[in-house]
Amino acid sequence: MTQTIATELQLEVARRRNFAIISHPDAGKTTLTEKLLLYGGAIHEAGAVKSRREQRNATSDWMELEKQRGISITSTVLQFAYSDFQINLLDTPGHQDFSEDTYRTLAAADNAVMLIDAAKGLEPQTRKLFEVCKLRSLPIFTFINKLDRPGREPLELIDEIEQELGLQTYPVNWPIGMGDRFKGVYDRRMQKIHLFQRTAHGKKAATSTVVDLGDPRIEELLEQELYFQLKDELEILEGVGPDLDLELVRAGQMTPVFFGSAMTNFGVQLFLDAFLDYAQYPETRRSSAGSLDPTYPEFTGFVFKLQANMDPKHRDRVAFVRVCTGKFERDMTVNHARTGKTVRLSRPQKLFAQDRESVDTAYPGDIIGLNNPGTFAIGDTVYCGQKIVYDGIPCFSPEIFAYLINPNPSKFKQFNKGVTELREEGAVQIMYSTNEARRDPILAAVGQLQIEVVQYRLEAEYGVQTRTEALPYSVARWVTNGWDAVEKAGRMFNAITVKDNWDRPVLLFRNRWNLDQAIADHPDLQLSNIAPIGT
Ligand code: G4P
Repeated sequence: MTQTIATELQLEVARRRNFAIISHPDAGKTTLTEKLLLYGGAIHEAGAVKSRREQRNATSDWMELEKQRGISITSTVLQFAYSDFQINLLDTPGHQDFSEDTYRTLAAADNAVMLIDAAKGLEPQTRKLFEVCKLRSLPIFTFINKLDRPGREPLELIDEIEQELGLQTYPVNWPIGMGDRFKGVYDRRMQKIHLFQRTAHGKKAATSTVVDLGDPRIEELLEQELYFQLKDELEILEGVGPDLDLELVRAGQMTPVFFGSAMTNFGVQLFLDAFLDYAQYPETRRSSAGSLDPTYPEFTGFVFKLQANMDPKHRDRVAFVRVCTGKFERDMTVNHARTGKTVRLSRPQKLFAQDRESVDTAYPGDIIGLNNPGTFAIGDTVYCGQKIVYDGIPCFSPEIFAYLINPNPSKFKQFNKGVTELREEGAVQIMYSTNEARRDPILAAVGQLQIEVVQYRLEAEYGVQTRTEALPYSVARWVTNGWDAVEKAGRMFNAITVKDNWDRPVLLFRNRWNLDQAIADHPDLQLSNIAPIGT
């Protein structure tokens, strides 16, 4: 590698930041995304991203849209430039389309932004996604949203994060008032007060008055009570709170916390500036050849998501590849680690919102979309140079289970082919009953939409109409110490044993309480809510 390419790679890595937003529906993810894009100059008017939310409202609409457009509207990577940075925002689908893809996207992210509604605090979907971030020790940045509306006490929210998620917190800014009395935030980084000014629906980037804490104008600008409250709270933070420790942040043990209001566009830029400063660069990844730094000169990457074209006439699949090292160039020929074949990457795409754009080069931290039908599976590594295999992406604990029934015996072959291919693609997990008499596969999903998509695609692409029979379980655990341990434990209350596609035992429980009881009754059982892919 020449000196110039090495320097180019270093520069490109240093200016890249990649993140995914984790949140519960309605916390304001679409709104925040839109505001971030507004700062990035990627869109000029609020509302451009919002239509996506409307499109997502009904499952059937979503299917219809996928068909019409022939492309994915749920799997978006937004790339935009801001200041000297190149930012990749990996979109995690919302509640209607919550699926394993949502988890897998986090495998391609270097940072996570945890978005919380100030009135609601931590909510179930955020907790679930947090668990996945924790597995990877991802740095987490917290944005507490909707300060313009009445919410819970800031100190209480901070405490909830610390107690329930076991994360240390460092508030980077601190709110002054809330709801009707929301006056702004104090930025501890620059030691300035930013006063909030409502703009017309936050359409344009908000301007705010910035003053020092000791500025005499403060008395005119802030009610005395709020001013004293702020001083008291800052004293508490300085007194009992830890200092910001970027090493802990990057190890996923401390979260910088920001307060703001995405809708009115307040606090978003403060957040963005600090985030870019503190966030992790494209990180070193574990591979079969040891840890690989992003500046390793050869191009390598892995597939973290496949998106099928819903139009049966164009059965292409887009494979989303996270670039891990080196420089990617259009038309490059790479090796496919699993099959040992070489593949020419001739139609790489970058995705912005709903549009695809051809891409000529990409660097570590970027995501590219590849159209190579049938070539790729989730977790596949592509590489140039010496053989590299990245760690696979695990299967995550499903929560929805249903027998998939093919009522038409003459379609047996198509049914089996469809189920196998959709499983390989990662559309859904497949499990089987241990009762040999019951051969119907069990669909195991993390979101209801996965089941609907599988049925829809079996019909559209394989010509098989199916029906489902829901199973009354909601918690799955792999038994990692094998079938003997399952037999020894015997029958369990409100639980059944099934096997996954690799004949590994999995226990399904009706609810968490039944799981807890089984853990208490059978301490010898080793249970895991995650299984490595395909081993
Ligand atoms: P999501 O993608 O996380 O599901 O959330 P989304 O951005 O769609 O926001 C959910 C609702 O919360 C929207 O209201 C949005 O306007 C509102 N919201 C987001 N950020 C803020 C904020 O900072 N302050 C306040 N007060 N509201 C906020 P909606 O009524 O569902 O839609 P709309 O009528 O506003 O379009």
